[in-house]
Parts: sequence; C-alpha cells; structure tokens
Amino acid sequence: MAIYQIVEMGDTVLKEKAIEVTKFGDNLHRLLDDMAETMYQANGVGLAAPQVGISKRVVVIDVGDGIVELINPRLVETEGEETEVEGCLSVPGVWGDVTRAAKVKVTGLNRHGEEVNYEASGLFARALQHEIDHLEGILFVEKANKIERKK
Ligand code: CO
Repeated sequence: MAIYQIVEMGDTVLKEKAIEVTKFGDNLHRLLDDMAETMYQANGVGLAAPQVGISKRVVVIDVGDGIVELINPRLVETEGEETEVEGCLSVPGVWGDVTRAAKVKVTGLNRHGEEVNYEASGLFARALQHEIDHLEGILFVEKANKIERKK
C-alpha cells in the first residue's frame, strides 16, 4: 500500500470531469486500497480519485461505519435540504456552509464491477454528494457560504 500526495485547489485535475472506469482488475483495487490509506492518514471522511491526481470516477468514504468504495457513482434521487459546515482535504484550512440534499439515493459499482445502491442521510449523504461533485470538477468552496479560514 502507498500514501498518495493529495492535490490542492489550483491543480487543473480538480477542475476536470473524471473518466468512467471500465476495468475492474488489480490496478483499480490497488488504487482503492491506496486511496483509503491516504484518506485515513489525512483524517478525512471521503476522497475522490482526482484528489490524488487521477481523473477517474472512483471515490472512497468512511463516515465511521467502515469503508465504502464506489465506482462511477450517480445520484438517482434526492430529498430535502440541509446546511452544514464542510471542508475538503484539497482545500486545507478552509470551512464553509454548504446546502445539500438531506437524503440521497446513489447507485454505482463496487470494485468487482457489480452494482451497489446506497440510501443515505446525514454525514454519509453529504459525503456522497461532496465526492460526486469532485468527479464533476466541482469543489465545495464554489457552493459554500460563510467561508472561514483557520490554521
Ligand atoms: Co473534497
């Protein structure tokens, strides 16, 4: 396993629309393992492949219930609205209020290319939306109000 360097705002890879994954072999599994290790080491709750410089539709999330790996994830349903403080490993030291759907349904693939579906609320719903935004080249600061900088 290996720790990636997390790329920060200003790097063009974070602005790109990431590419769909079509191969589910060892390279993808290594990427997922290394992304998880990188996320845990950085004390994050989510990480998208563009944040490690790889423009592919791959995310990992752990909001405290164990690792969730999602390939080519897609929001299929949203409900309600909720505003909470958010940050991002690619925008260190910055927090802001972001309004997102309170509940979401997401479909995607697991590391073997099998369909997986999640219904989420709370922090998990927020993390899913934040990470899917990364795959579209969108950073939370573009959606945030009351942006604060802290050391
Ligand atoms: Co982020």
